Amino acid sequence: MSIRLFDSLTLRGLTLRNRVAISSMCMYSATEGLAEDFHLAHYGRFALGGAGLVMVEATSVSPEGRISHGDLGLWDDFQIEPLARIVRLVKAQGAAIGIQLVHGGRKACRQRPWHGNGPLGEDDFARGDRPWPLVGPSAIPFGEAYQTPRVLEDADIAGIRAAFIAAARRAEVAGFDLIEIHAAHGFLLHSFMCPATNRRSDAYGGDFAGRHRLALEVAADLRAVWPEDRPLFTRLSMEDGVADGRPFAETIRLAAALKERGVDVIDCSSGGIGGHSASTAGGPSGYGFQIPLAHKVREGAGIRTMAVGLITEATLADQAIAGERCDLVAIGREALNDPNWPQHAHAALGLGGEGAVYDRWPVQYGWWLERREKTLRALDGERPPSGRVGR
Ligand SMILES: Cc1cc2nc3c(=O)[nH]c(=O)nc-3n(C[C@H](O)[C@H](O)[C@H](O)COP(=O)(O)O)c2cc1C
Repeated sequence: MSIRLFDSLTLRGLTLRNRVAISSMCMYSATEGLAEDFHLAHYGRFALGGAGLVMVEATSVSPEGRISHGDLGLWDDFQIEPLARIVRLVKAQGAAIGIQLVHGGRKACRQRPWHGNGPLGEDDFARGDRPWPLVGPSAIPFGEAYQTPRVLEDADIAGIRAAFIAAARRAEVAGFDLIEIHAAHGFLLHSFMCPATNRRSDAYGGDFAGRHRLALEVAADLRAVWPEDRPLFTRLSMEDGVADGRPFAETIRLAAALKERGVDVIDCSSGGIGGHSASTAGGPSGYGFQIPLAHKVREGAGIRTMAVGLITEATLADQAIAGERCDLVAIGREALNDPNWPQHAHAALGLGGEGAVYDRWPVQYGWWLERREKTLRALDGERPPSGRVGR
């Protein structure tokens, strides 16, 4: 019998109640890296909505690593408690919770999307968002009008590794079940991997081993300090989609090397080195467009994978799991649209059986919705022609 979307998944000492994860999504709404009441409500909704795993957004290991002024941070102890409050809420609702650790590198210090999604400008300065100097593997800016990053030297790289370690220790204090290394989307670790952005001739550039050295060092560093019974994920861009990008074969090779260093799951995303990212892309990408890539990494590197990208339909998600193409699916924007997506997906798959549609919901909701369902069924023929609410 095949494994289904709502079967549990055990990773080291952690058992997820199902295989639906909410993908990391920056909310650009923190102050000095601190999680606010907004974040508590935001992440709490997903736990109430039935997800197996709630991933907290990209959280910076240092102030300079923030993608925007509104990013969460874990570079200081004072940032632990507001995150611990979110952890307690999410776990109390039966979901597991992970946090994604990032350094933005040459793509740090950008505008919030609704302010333009580009480099900071006069309007942002007027709002109080001042720029800071960027760093990267080579002096290649992300694009026109972006700052040219300062080339990181050995001592700087050692400092960045130490910042990842310190942030992971704080994540442990906050109570997170797992951490994910953000090594995708053109941020610092990914920019070291890619020939288009890494022109170094030292030990951190050149061949496969040199370009991937920093990501592999960070993985080994975090595995050494992160508790043995808690999983470690890494998000990778499967494909760069730019001239002089990494070949997909390198992604598989890297995934295998990460597994050797104790990474448990590869979170399979794409893009970000240049041009569009997977979630802002202008053109249609196709439903579940990264599932085939997650499958190839799973087969090629023998490691568990999480697929993400336009997975909006319950059957698509269930078939990806049942077909052993990935071990988890991550839902991003669809969860913003419908934080109860896992509950709705469970019902759509007919897994609850007649009359048991609401028994998985928080009792505070389910008790009422079950009774309302009976009323709605009795009124079936009288439903007003209101159109579909939702998507
Ligand atoms: C508002 C928003 C913020 C995002 N922030 C992050 C992030 O912090 N880290 C990350 O790895 N990906 C981030 N992404 C990408 C998503 O995690 C996801 O991979 C992408 O949206 C594709 O999945 P979807 O089609 O289900 O939305 C973000 C996407 C959105 C829409």
